[in-house]
Amino acid sequence: EKGGFPSFMDKEIHDQPQAVHDTLLGRMTAAGRLTLDEIRVDEQVLRQIDKIIVIACGTAAYAGQVAKYAIEHWCRIPVEVELAHEFRYRDPVVNAKTLVVAVSQSGETMDTLMAVRHAREQGATVLAIVNTHGSTIPRESDAVLYTHAGPEVAVASTKAFLAQITAAYLLGLYLAQLRGTKFPDEIAEVIDDLRAMPEKIAKVIADSGRVRQIARWMADTSSVLFLGRHVGYPVAMEGALKLKELAYIHAEGFAAGELKHGPIALIEPGQPVFIIVPSPRGRDSLHSKVVSNIQEIRARGARTLVIAEEGDDAVLPFADEVFFVPQTPTLLAPLVSVVPLQIFACELATARGLDVDQPRNLAKSVTVE
Ligand code: F6R
Repeated sequence: EKGGFPSFMDKEIHDQPQAVHDTLLGRMTAAGRLTLDEIRVDEQVLRQIDKIIVIACGTAAYAGQVAKYAIEHWCRIPVEVELAHEFRYRDPVVNAKTLVVAVSQSGETMDTLMAVRHAREQGATVLAIVNTHGSTIPRESDAVLYTHAGPEVAVASTKAFLAQITAAYLLGLYLAQLRGTKFPDEIAEVIDDLRAMPEKIAKVIADSGRVRQIARWMADTSSVLFLGRHVGYPVAMEGALKLKELAYIHAEGFAAGELKHGPIALIEPGQPVFIIVPSPRGRDSLHSKVVSNIQEIRARGARTLVIAEEGDDAVLPFADEVFFVPQTPTLLAPLVSVVPLQIFACELATARGLDVDQPRNLAKSVTVE
């Protein structure tokens, strides 16, 4: 069933273009209108919501953090993202105008399920973004938007993450369409960009020889840091999580802007640091700010492993290694920039002789609180 791959994780990384394609399938017209009739929540309710809270754990929560940037931008609705176990045990401000989005691959995560129950008790509408049909979370929610990633067997989540981002983006675009916060042609343009993603993801996988080689060379490393900004920030944290859970080494993700507020003290000669660089074609000065971060950490002797967009030559003078990914609009970049990080963790753990499908102490679905 591994389809000739050495591990399920490897197979599932290769399944990612298909997972994104299938999650988009049948949910929009050729003219670029969203058709999410499956959601079956009264449109009037969706027009009146004044806040969205995404609840999830682990990788699914990072997908939620990515989606926050897009949904706020498209819909002008405030979006909070909260770990389900934290949400459940404070006194969250939730009411009938709150849309709670529960994101879960398995649909069985007990922390997330308890948060769903809590939100519904407070009168919120709960929409589940879930991969596993027939699971508990969708059954207990008001509505469900399935990710069509197919069964995910490896404990570490990969294709479900990309499918979760894709589904949350469809939801954001649907709300923008319903509430009129974006013009139809703007929505159609994002949809075209989303449709182009599977091919770009496939290209990152096909071009992954160098990142695999570097990962094997780094098998003995004891710590890796990850920096990102804007949507690259949750990608950095996801890259760190993959490495922790698979390779059992210290890994930490930071917001690049936070560097000077503390983490830069960790930078010492030889410290490997991944930096996810935003597109130079994107808004504001984000790109140049992150390039300055690379320069600062390089100047302190760290080893810079840079993920940048094809054609971004500005990073070259400060990068020990560059992994180029295809050009994409800023909001869609996580769908390509996380892939080298998944491959890096998978390959490094394999080089350490570890079982990437069954990391120690972890289970595929966490059905206890
Ligand atoms: C990380 C990982 C976990 C899950 C988390 C939520 O690779 O797999 O962090 O993402 O336990 O699980 P689901 O999505 O099933 O609710």
